[in-house]
Amino acid sequence: MLALTSLPENTKLPGRLTMQTVEIGTETVAIRSLDWDRDRFDIEFGLQNGTTYNSFLIQGEKTALVDTSHRKFQQLYLDVLNGLIDLSTLDYLIISHTEPDHSGLVKEVLQLAPQVTVVGAKVAIQFLENMVHQPFPSLIVKNGDRLDLGNGHQLEFVSAPNLHWPDTIFTYDAKTRILFTCDAFGMHYCDDRTFDEDPDLIEADFKYYYDCLMAPNARSVLSAIKRMEKLDICTIATGHGPLLQHHLSDWVNRYQQWSQEQTKVDTLVALFYSEDYGYSDRLARAIAHGITRNGVVVELVDLSTAEPQEVRELVNQAAGLVIGMPSQSDRNAHAALSTILAAAHNKQTVGLFETGGGEDEPIYPLRNKFQEIGLTEAFPPILVKEPPTQIIEQMCDEAGTDIGQWLTRDRTIKQIKALDNNLERALGRLSSGLYIITAHKGDVSSAMLASWVMQASMNPLGVAIAVAKDRAIESLLHIGDRFILNVLEENNYQSLMKHFLKRFSPGADRFAGIKTYAANNGCPILADALAYMECEVTTRMECSDHWIIYSNVHTGRVAKLDSLTAVHHRKVGNHY
Ligand code: FEO
Repeated sequence: MLALTSLPENTKLPGRLTMQTVEIGTETVAIRSLDWDRDRFDIEFGLQNGTTYNSFLIQGEKTALVDTSHRKFQQLYLDVLNGLIDLSTLDYLIISHTEPDHSGLVKEVLQLAPQVTVVGAKVAIQFLENMVHQPFPSLIVKNGDRLDLGNGHQLEFVSAPNLHWPDTIFTYDAKTRILFTCDAFGMHYCDDRTFDEDPDLIEADFKYYYDCLMAPNARSVLSAIKRMEKLDICTIATGHGPLLQHHLSDWVNRYQQWSQEQTKVDTLVALFYSEDYGYSDRLARAIAHGITRNGVVVELVDLSTAEPQEVRELVNQAAGLVIGMPSQSDRNAHAALSTILAAAHNKQTVGLFETGGGEDEPIYPLRNKFQEIGLTEAFPPILVKEPPTQIIEQMCDEAGTDIGQWLTRDRTIKQIKALDNNLERALGRLSSGLYIITAHKGDVSSAMLASWVMQASMNPLGVAIAVAKDRAIESLLHIGDRFILNVLEENNYQSLMKHFLKRFSPGADRFAGIKTYAANNGCPILADALAYMECEVTTRMECSDHWIIYSNVHTGRVAKLDSLTAVHHRKVGNHY
């Protein structure tokens, strides 16, 4: 029997890793691993509020564990699990998908419970066989398959590919009306509160998570929501963050609306890669993140499992193609590449990247073939042989930004050439100074010329900067990030402005040939700036095609007291 009398319980341990166990439905317990201080999930995913890894125990006549936890919780998680159940009686381990933050302790659970049957999608079971290196009983499930745990716990599986791995399944329990969705509808938010009582507190994290993880798979989100419609759901038990119960339809509606908006956009990039090969998942997601900055839709397709018809249709629709090189021995991926080449045409743009698996298909012969067909290359091939660093992931993000900007150039030109009416001329009379924002985070640095900058508060001192969503530096301007606001000097700004206005190739050093010195916050100060301020981002407001970045100013200095700031006067308000 489950020991639920003292639940919920929280035991804080050193290192800010804690566990929480809460009964969330009849004979159903959430085992939440709270990772209070985690500050990053890949390059695009700076975290402000830590995260949680949620696992669930359902005990009918038979028992099932839904997902495990991150490896860093090994001792804590297994202690809690052992306290809840005699593991020799565990019947099923359901794997929603095989990413290590949820399946990191599968091997340990199998050692303690060798009798357990692992339940998952076909790809997930294959992946686990390679990961665990020992035989285990397994049950492959498809959409609509059922598993009866007894006592009314009739489980139904919902296939949700690409949310966000190809092997993702949801699990619905008819007795408790809980749908276990793992990554989908989650958020990286660590809190003692198990549920979503206060939506104001979490909606920014919910949206940020959607943008980073789900937006590139918007079509798949809509398919999954359609499959959920026939289920009577009272709780969505996510794999990260609070469980959704108090505002359930609102959260689902938001996913639906955002995904519909995504898929309405007419410019599409098809991004082909092999999910389980090399580092393609991380690289593909960084590129996809850069592409979506420009309002371009990305469809991610796994070369290893894609059907030829699906590939052909997608290539026909796509304005751009991005391909991560598969393994030379992946026959399905080879067939898919042939299909892509046969369907590609000279109005498309293409970008290629290696995935670092050790036996990548060579990139240059494929590049030559695309050149022969007449496709425009969006960015030079990205060559990866080793685990990607932050710098490589930033390069991928910038490559994605480049392809997105290329595909939306007509829209941008049209906007600039739009009718020069009175309103635009009036707006153009808003003048501003000229500034360079310089930022540094981890191993990555970047810079941007900015003119939409203003002081925004007195106490504490704060500035607001409007940053276009398609600027790659936006990744370095999340809450808690630090940067320098360099003020350019009247009559002495041309060379700096020219330098930072030029087009940099992905990963290029923005500071080559520029004199800088390091600020206390680690960011570069431009030696030729008239003044600088050290800033820390505290708030971001989404404003259509820009982010308003509000930041506190901690310290600053003026180099020449009698000089003035360079001023930028415009004629019309429809461009900078
Ligand atoms: Fe939360 Fe896809 O792992």
